[in-house]
Amino acid sequence: MHIVALKSPDSRDHRSVIHPDTVEKISVLQGVTFSFESGIGNGINISDKTFTNMGLKALSRDECLSRGNLIITPTSLSLDEAVKVQPGSTVLGMVNPFYAGDELKALNQSRINIVSMEFIPRITRAQKMDVLSSQANLAGYVAVLEAAQHLSSALPMMMTAAGTLKPAKVFVIGVGVAGLQAIATAKRLGARVEAFDTRDVVEEQVKSLGAKFVKIDLGDTGQTDQGYAKELTPEQIAKQKDLQSQVCERSDIVITTAQIFGRPAPKIIDASTIKKMKPGSVILDMAVETGGNVEGSVVDEVIDVNGVKVVGVSYLASKVSSHASFALSNNIINWVTDFYNEESSQINFDFDDEVIQSSVLAYDGKILNERFA
Ligand code: NAI
Repeated sequence: MHIVALKSPDSRDHRSVIHPDTVEKISVLQGVTFSFESGIGNGINISDKTFTNMGLKALSRDECLSRGNLIITPTSLSLDEAVKVQPGSTVLGMVNPFYAGDELKALNQSRINIVSMEFIPRITRAQKMDVLSSQANLAGYVAVLEAAQHLSSALPMMMTAAGTLKPAKVFVIGVGVAGLQAIATAKRLGARVEAFDTRDVVEEQVKSLGAKFVKIDLGDTGQTDQGYAKELTPEQIAKQKDLQSQVCERSDIVITTAQIFGRPAPKIIDASTIKKMKPGSVILDMAVETGGNVEGSVVDEVIDVNGVKVVGVSYLASKVSSHASFALSNNIINWVTDFYNEESSQINFDFDDEVIQSSVLAYDGKILNERFA
């Protein structure tokens, strides 16, 4: 089987789906030839030569597309690219199922199997493949550093001869993987941290990080069996915004991470809340790429609203591209090594396996998961 790894076509994404510390796990497999798109390691300071010295082959993008049997990619392929891939091959990666429906349908029409790493089930055995968690964790860390850069004060309390500097107050909304890491990072930097999530099961986790959980009683909220939040009713959102705005008012940094899997991000901070906040305070919208939690946030821009900075940053995890690539490539390689059959030199699409059932969106010309369509 010829495995090829593609570069991100978006210059803002510096990550690589292969990393020198992880490729060996694949290159030792029987029957595998391993190639990569030339320049794949540019964003993590790894040259083609490093990979070719490890036995991989450097190819152009078109060569990767036309020669690969298993194409590992950080995004979906474009409509033009779908026709270049051999029928019967497999595209595996962060294929963006909820936004790249047309591209994925084109791949399926060309009888190309599609594996979405976004649909890895949240079961213990598959945690090693969970790209959403590995990248959200790093994004949560970066979000705090990015927000801190826009604040005109330091985060920790400092008792100096020139007087006592008060610690910054950070409010994290949404306490999933990213939110927990944002809380931990802000705490490490010495901030006072408060946090809120509609899933009240996270209260203990917030407290265990030394932060305060903001209680807002929204009635029945809950989570799905995969641990994702359920969508709130308009009345619940209104109540949340109202009580949350009081915490925003006293915060120096607000980091929003609220997501609903497969749906646009909920709008939880509106203009009236921003108006109440102190000039100089910062809101970092981690959901800006999926519709945004904050009214008026824009991808890769800092919007000034009466002195409040509303920050939107794309590809947050890519700001720590080496660690992000290491984790991402490990996640992907763990999928490949679990399902590659060395005797047949093929992927074993065993549809009795929960990971295959959940992550394979299309197989042999049939769409198996209607949620992306
Ligand atoms: P996510 O990225 O879908 O959402 C981020 C957070 O936003 C979630 O905590 C969600 O409850 C919250 N949220 C949604 N709407 C909100 C609103 N209106 N206001 C405030 N917060 C709102 O979630 P993520 O980070 O992918 O994980 C969710 C849970 O799944 C976490 O508790 C995590 O620990 C768990 N998980 C379990 C795994 C497993 O293998 N068992 C693997 C990964 C995560």
